[in-house]
Amino acid sequence: MDAIEIQGGTPLVGEVTVSGSKNATLPMLCAALLAKGQSRFFDVPALADLRTMGRLLAHMGASIDPLSAPPGLGTTLSIDASTIGNPEAPYELVKTMRAAVLVLGPLVARLGHARVSLPGGCAIGARPIDQHLKGLTALGAKIELAHGYVEARADRLVGTHFNFDLPTVTGTENLMMAASLAEGQTVLENCAREPEIEALATMLNAMGARVHGAGSSTITIDGVSSLRPVDSMVVPDRIEAGTLMAAAVITGGDVLVRRAPAPHLEALTSKLREAGAKVTVEADGVRVVGPARPNPIDVITAPHPGYPTDLQAQLMACLCVSTGASRVVETVFENRFMHVQELRRLGADIAVEGNTALVRGQPELQGAPVMATDLRASASLVLAGLRASGTTTVSRVYHLDRGYDGLEKKLAALGARIVRVREA
Ligand code: EPZ
Repeated sequence: MDAIEIQGGTPLVGEVTVSGSKNATLPMLCAALLAKGQSRFFDVPALADLRTMGRLLAHMGASIDPLSAPPGLGTTLSIDASTIGNPEAPYELVKTMRAAVLVLGPLVARLGHARVSLPGGCAIGARPIDQHLKGLTALGAKIELAHGYVEARADRLVGTHFNFDLPTVTGTENLMMAASLAEGQTVLENCAREPEIEALATMLNAMGARVHGAGSSTITIDGVSSLRPVDSMVVPDRIEAGTLMAAAVITGGDVLVRRAPAPHLEALTSKLREAGAKVTVEADGVRVVGPARPNPIDVITAPHPGYPTDLQAQLMACLCVSTGASRVVETVFENRFMHVQELRRLGADIAVEGNTALVRGQPELQGAPVMATDLRASASLVLAGLRASGTTTVSRVYHLDRGYDGLEKKLAALGARIVRVREA
């Protein structure tokens, strides 16, 4: 297993370019199942989760081929779903990547049948998929749960009016994809509004779908009889961008984060400014100049456009060295403070009560061995290590590799003393 070793204390300075978005790419790869022919994806980041998704689609009969990539972009991927025939997403693959549930909608729409393993729990919460299933049932699918699998069947899905009980990103994405090939019109209410949903709708409409309102809480889909494969450019990863912006803040550095999608980062930007950072939107990115020590601030996570839960752990790391006490309230997931006990090992003073963490800022953190527990917690520990005096070793960085493409290399290019080491 790999670990990441950091000698902290160096302010990050320079320019870094954000890779393509994990959470946009995952549903887009699944949307390729809706069409016969070759779909191509440009600027795909090199991430473990995307490799897992590729294996899952191949398991279904799609052919997945890396293509030569244009210079300066991530990888280029081709997916040909002409001959998919196996409607099953097995537990071995789903248990390592919950986003596999995103094949449910496309498979039922394309094949009339899907057998997808229930994802099971996850480090950050129960993460049920009841909304996905309620929505597919409303579209006319017959859903059975047996032996840890969801079995969904429908001769043809029929458009409907469906209200989500709560905004769910992949739930919205699943139903958008399913409704694209349904008979008639579907109206989805109380949808999630994350930018990745808009990116998926852009791809679906290029394929010939008729999706309107993505990015708002009401999405209307007029079903069509078939969809065609398309070429898609993956949008930059707003969570990686936010993580790199937080790295500039915690180290008191000066970093230009190229391709940072500023309009999708306004909640973070306003919090970083409140914390004393200088954040300026430039032509090709966002420049962040960090303070010597951040001001204490309060933050409450919420569905987009609220403060993103996926940037909660990273901001908390910054607040560990603030000049006062901050409150961090996590409202989206029930167990997303796994980074707290590891941050404490670095000298952070954090008290957790329910979904609220009280972070009392310290002048410094001290390096120590810490263990990653989930994707964004691992990023938080890397950020804290960049500030801590001495050596911080973050183990189990396979969590980090699920969602960051070469983060340690990007940070090293900004002056961080950081290396990946192989653990015994
Ligand atoms: C997506 O997960 C993201 N993953 C997550 O990013 C992100 O944290 C999350 O949205 C919230 O923004 C991808 O896009 C692949 P939800 P998703 O359904 O869709 C509850 C990362 O770090 N819920 O919006 O699974 C659920 O338990 C990952 O990149 C139900 O109750 O999240 C949670 O409390 C982590 N029933 C809340 O809704 C359902 O049927 C929001 O979950 C579905 C969800």
